[in-house]
Amino acid sequence: MQKIIINGGCPLNGSIHISGSKNAALPIMSACILTNDNLELSNIPNLDDVNTMSKVLSSLGVDVNKDNISENKMILCYKDSEQSIAEYDLVRKMRASILVLGPLLARKREAAVSLPGGCAIGDRPVDIHIEALQKLGAEFSLDQGYIKCKASKGLVGCKIDFPKISVGASENIIMAACLAKGESQINNIAIEPEVIDLVDCLKSMGAKIELTGNRTILVQGVDEMKGTSYSIIPDRIETLTYVIAGALTAENLLIKDINISHIQNVLDLLLKLNINVDVRSNEISIKKSLINESIELDTEEFPGFPTDLQAQMMVLMSLGKKKSIIRENIFENRFMHVSELNRMGGNIEISGKKAIIHPCENFLGAQVMATDLRASVSLVLAGLVANGETTLNRVYHLDRGYENIETKLQSCGADIKRI
Ligand code: UD1
Repeated sequence: MQKIIINGGCPLNGSIHISGSKNAALPIMSACILTNDNLELSNIPNLDDVNTMSKVLSSLGVDVNKDNISENKMILCYKDSEQSIAEYDLVRKMRASILVLGPLLARKREAAVSLPGGCAIGDRPVDIHIEALQKLGAEFSLDQGYIKCKASKGLVGCKIDFPKISVGASENIIMAACLAKGESQINNIAIEPEVIDLVDCLKSMGAKIELTGNRTILVQGVDEMKGTSYSIIPDRIETLTYVIAGALTAENLLIKDINISHIQNVLDLLLKLNINVDVRSNEISIKKSLINESIELDTEEFPGFPTDLQAQMMVLMSLGKKKSIIRENIFENRFMHVSELNRMGGNIEISGKKAIIHPCENFLGAQVMATDLRASVSLVLAGLVANGETTLNRVYHLDRGYENIETKLQSCGADIKRI
């Protein structure tokens, strides 16, 4: 089992290139099922989750060409196949496998996807995906842990009001509606940059989609979609993770190849807190600058503060001067990093969905255990500033979502290695 060892206290100095967005890449990859032409993707991050999605797609009849993955390129081509079942062994590794359901139903009129189980960050149901696909004309049953669905007469456009904002359900239903008969009006959609990136890719594949503002989207079904070449947006969560690393410990860190408009919401907050950032068109430079004020933050859907940045922000808040509060409103049970941060000298209390972060002098190196992707990177951040050595176990969580993390940090002077 691999581990990451960090000797804390080395200031970061240099530049870091930001990879393509994992959460944009996964739905865009599954959109290849909507056509028999090539979908040529660039800026694809080379990550475990992308590999898992490649395997899910291969198992469904997609020809996945990863010859140029080291240059972050991939070509996907869906061949009509009998297979329309996404198996348990793959789906259990990655919940986002559910994203093949909408495109498969639209193309093959039937699909079966293993029901994703509970996961480390709480119970994550898929009821919103299913109810919306039912409105489009699909019939569902649950058989041996698989969601089986059929739309014998094809999907038919309709009006859908999501009861709750869901990134994955928005993506699944938009993809399904692209090939449904007639118009779909989908209300209360997620407007995360990753959802918009999928919409842009679908449009370039021939979909007729109009975002009318106010979280409503109109999709005019088409008979056929075509192939395209598409470049994935930069990863905003990776960007902001390195911004926080810089605020914790940089002499001068340049974060390159980013999209400022996707992170403006969080940058505004950091600027208000007098974090030393200098923002240019597609890069940011940042210097060590800790927080002097008390902050109260709520995780919310975009453009609110992202739940995927909650754990990292907690590390920065811990080294601030005053008590701060984060309320986690998106997922239950997403505070599993707290006990590990406390083992490193943090002083964080949990009360329901609220974390109260008391200032601590500094983190202290320790043996820690990653529990999920963002939790694991928060432990890396704490390890970078800590006194002494931190050993991070269960590194595979990190490899799901951070491309070359130790190489990127090493190149800026961090003492970090994988054994
Ligand atoms: C996506 C992101 C994840 C991010 C999350 C919220 C990907 C691959 N993952 O996950 O990194 O943390 O958005 O920004 O893009 N819900 C239901 N029923 C459903 C679907 C969701 O109750 O059918 C609930 C969830 O349990 C959660 C909330 O809705 O409480 C939001 O989840 P959702 O936006 O769907 O997250 P994901 O798409 O799984």
